[in-house]
Order: sequence, then C-alpha cells, then structure tokens
Amino acid sequence: MTRFDEILGGVRRRWLVTGAAGFIGSNLVEWLLRGGQSVVGLDNFATGHQRNLDEVRRLVGESDWARFRFIRGDIRNTDDCRAAVDGADYVLHQAALGSVPRSLAEPLASFDANVTGFVHILTAARDAGVKRFVYASSSSVYGDNPDLPKLEGRVGRPLSPYAATKCANELFADVWARSYGMSCVGLRYFNVFGPRQDPQGAYAAVIPRWAAAMLRGDTCQINGDGKTSRDFCFVANAVQANLRAALAGAVTAPHEVLNIACGETTDLEQLFAALKQALADRAPQLAQRLRSQVPSYQPFRAGDVRHSLAAISRAETLIGYRPTHRLAEGLAEAAEWYLQSVDRTA
Ligand SMILES: NC(=O)c1ccc[n+]([C@@H]2O[C@H](COP(=O)([O-])OP(=O)(O)OC[C@H]3O[C@@H](n4cnc5c(N)ncnc54)[C@H](O)[C@@H]3O)[C@@H](O)[C@H]2O)c1
Repeated sequence: MTRFDEILGGVRRRWLVTGAAGFIGSNLVEWLLRGGQSVVGLDNFATGHQRNLDEVRRLVGESDWARFRFIRGDIRNTDDCRAAVDGADYVLHQAALGSVPRSLAEPLASFDANVTGFVHILTAARDAGVKRFVYASSSSVYGDNPDLPKLEGRVGRPLSPYAATKCANELFADVWARSYGMSCVGLRYFNVFGPRQDPQGAYAAVIPRWAAAMLRGDTCQINGDGKTSRDFCFVANAVQANLRAALAGAVTAPHEVLNIACGETTDLEQLFAALKQALADRAPQLAQRLRSQVPSYQPFRAGDVRHSLAAISRAETLIGYRPTHRLAEGLAEAAEWYLQSVDRTA
C-alpha cells in the first residue's frame, strides 16, 4: 500500500508532469510511480535538478522507475510540449519560474516561462485531447485583498509580476475550458514545503533556507517583524490535491480553481520555533545549539503579502481533498530530509 492507492484505485494511467525535476514535480513523479502509474516528466533544469530525479529513482526502485520517461525540454517550445503530452491522459503542470523576488528582478523571464510556456503546454494538451489539465496556480493571486481566510471567488490585484503570471494562467485556462471544452483545474498552492525543495540560492523559500542555515549554525533572517503569517502546506497535501483534482469525476465547472493548504495560520516567529524543534527532535546532538539560535530581523520584502490563510472547503467539497499533514507533521517528515540531504558546508 502506498499513500495514494485509494485515490489511484489500482488503475494504470498515463501522466505528464511538467517541472518534474523540481520540488513539487519530483514529489508527484515519486508518488505516481509508487502508485503503479506511467509517467512522462518534462523539465529544462532552469531551477530543477538531476539530483531530484536521482533521489526519486533511488526511493522508488528500478521496477517502478522503468515506468518513467524523462524529456529534457522546454515548455516554451512547441515540439517539446507535443512530444511530452503525446499519449497522456492527465497533465499535472508544475513548470514555472517561482519566487516573487525573482519576478521583480527578472519580469520578462517570469513572463516567458510562466505565461508563454503555459499557453504552449495548454495548447499541446488541448491538441492531444487530455482528459484533464491540472496546473499550479498560487495564493499570490489574492494580492492586495486583505480578507481572511482567502475564498476562491475574491481575489485582489496582484502585487508582483509572479502573481500576475499566475492570474494570467487562470485566465487562459478559463478561456481554454470555455472555448475548447477542455477540463482544467488550477490549484492555488499556499507555501508548499517538504523534501527536495531547494535550500540554495537567492530565491530559496523560507523553510528550506532556514533549515539549511540552522544546520550550518548560521543566523536565520526574518523579513519584517516576524508577525507575517502563512498557511504552510506539506508537499504530500499538494500531491494528494493533484491526484484528486485529476481524477475527481465531474467538477462543477469546466475550469475550477481551488485553494490547497491546511487552513491554519502560522507566523514566522512560530515557524522559526517549530522548525528548530522538529530538527532538534531528530538530531539530539544538535539540540542545544539549535535552541540557542535567535533570528535576525530584516526589512519587509517588496511584493510580499502580509497574511495568508486559505479556506479549503471548496477543495474539500469538489475533489474530496483532506490534508493529511498539518505543519508539525510536515516539518517532522521534512526535517528527516534536511538532516540527510542538506549540504551543511555550502
Ligand atoms: N513551492 C511553493 O510554495 C509554491 C507555491 C505556489 C505555487 N507554486 C507553483 O508550483 C509549481 C512548482 O513549484 P516548485 O516549488 O516545485 O518549484 P521548482 O522551481 O522546484 O520547480 C519548477 C520546475 O519547473 C522547471 N521549469 C522552469 N521553467 C521551465 C521551462 N521553461 N521549461 C521546462 N521546465 C521548466 C524548473 O527547472 C523546475 O524543475 C510552480 O508553478 C510554482 O509557481 C509553488
């Protein structure tokens, strides 16, 4: 039995996962293969890594790995998209350039990958007649709307080029659903974390960046006053949401957007304490040093929303989504990976 057998129902289907060498994409590949599925992965290694695929291969074993085919290619290239989607029943589109700060520094690159690339893969999926196109949207589409919790119907104005690209994704998917009758589901992920999320680089997300800093004995930086809050979502919840979104019978509309999170709020100071605890619990030899660590406070970051908390009832109702991992359980699994995999000298 694997985690998602109940959803996959023992039926072998053909999947395309774009962004397969990235964080969420490689987790999708892992769990699809563990569940007996046939998977094609597409990635150009812009921010993903061969080591993520190598790790999946090691974890699933050679017999499951034999059902995986990797295409090194670009979602901005029509031929690559056509080759990747050929024969697929379902597309789980994850490829994009993430990060709000990256998009502020390089808006054209974000537009190119996230909008031009999106329309390429959407068109290839339409031409191939896939059963459903599930894609990664983002909580960033709520922008300057201050309402909490976030309800799918009430978005604000985007606060960054990245957020604008995700709004554009939703617009294009909506048009493709209505104009071409293509079934599309957008998943608005809220701060996903877990194994294989890249801790390195200027645009690393907060949890892996802090975990790496804690393990090296470096100071963690909090942007703002520490009261900025998020709805942190362990990657197993995001994988579950993708599988359910693809396989749910009829969703209400040809294009649906769903919040994917836990429906719980955690501020950055609480996160700092919880992450230290999760690492200390698993590495008693580091516990004393971890407990003595204190963060440094930096200015607020441009383009960041102040608070984010999802209402997840729409995903619960329409696709039967039930988060299996709250923050503490997710941090416990993620901490194992940080301890084994994070380079403490980098
Ligand atoms: N991680 C989060 O918290 C989060 C939150 C909201 C939305 N998302 C979205 O989820 C998706 C996956 O994010 P992630 O955290 O796994 O990021 P990631 O950077 O680890 O994965 C993205 C993958 O897409 C690939 N890629 C980028 N441009 C490409 C191109 N032109 N052609 C082919 N492949 C390309 C990258 O090489 C990488 O492997 C993205 O669409 C992201 O915007 C993530």
